Amino acid sequence: MNAGALTGDGRAVQLRDGNQLPVLGLGVWQVPDGPVCVNAVRWALELGYRHIDTAQAYGNEASVGKALRESGVPRNEVFITTKFYPGRQDPVAEAEASLRRLGVDQVDLYLVHWPQGGPLRAWPGMELARVRGLAKSIGVSNFGADDLGKVLAAASVPPAVDQIEFSAVHYRRGLMDACRSAEVVPEAYSPLGTGRHLSNKRVTAIAARAGRTPAQVLLRWCLQHGLPVIPKSTHRERIEENAQIFDFTLSEEDMAELDALDQTHGTDRALERHWWR
Ligand code: A2P
Repeated sequence: MNAGALTGDGRAVQLRDGNQLPVLGLGVWQVPDGPVCVNAVRWALELGYRHIDTAQAYGNEASVGKALRESGVPRNEVFITTKFYPGRQDPVAEAEASLRRLGVDQVDLYLVHWPQGGPLRAWPGMELARVRGLAKSIGVSNFGADDLGKVLAAASVPPAVDQIEFSAVHYRRGLMDACRSAEVVPEAYSPLGTGRHLSNKRVTAIAARAGRTPAQVLLRWCLQHGLPVIPKSTHRERIEENAQIFDFTLSEEDMAELDALDQTHGTDRALERHWWR
């Protein structure tokens, strides 16, 4: 099964449960519900994206569902992730509500959005959501190595994915390694630093050298470290630009220069601050 291995065309990674996660997705964090979200998802699907990442906390699942239906792309060709909002009690009831808003029978991946109430609190409910067929795969987000270890020790079905803040500036190498050794696929959110890293001098210099854009360099860096990426944009031309990351390679020197931007000291923690406390 070989969790984390790329599929033959290099466009998806293998999860431990046999499912495959496309390495490029559109993230819709901070995209307002309504036409802005519907358009972003519609453009992404038109431009060849086959993976959309939303969450209960984003409040835009209905727009994701609308765009998916209107796109005409068959449901089984698109990988949909949503996340359990851990301020709520029951992952099963919340998954059912997500499916109604999305207008689908099942999501491909259902994640605990953050470890509120402790890393184990939501997990039995997540396993039940999977048994009931509400989600094909289950996983976590914003779980550090310590949290992940606790879930792995207690779980009947281990998490397939840990979606984490990850970029050249937040190169959480310890957490990436901890995921890998546990056969959990690390997935990168905020790969552009929510836009902040695009003007980084080192990044712009490497982009100029490679004849690519800063966004493409930052996304490619994640792919070359083996992490699926979910850049967010509400602009068609940027959504298109962010998908053009499969036709070039960063050299070892470029990768090392980008690695050196890390400000986390290679941490195995997922977050510097626990905002829900
Ligand atoms: P916008 O949505 O207005 O296009 P991240 O994926 O790290 O969260 O970063 C998302 C931020 O980066 C958003 O503010 C988005 O702006 C911006 N962004 C995304 N792609 C690009 C791009 N190719 N060029 C410039 N800015 C981009």
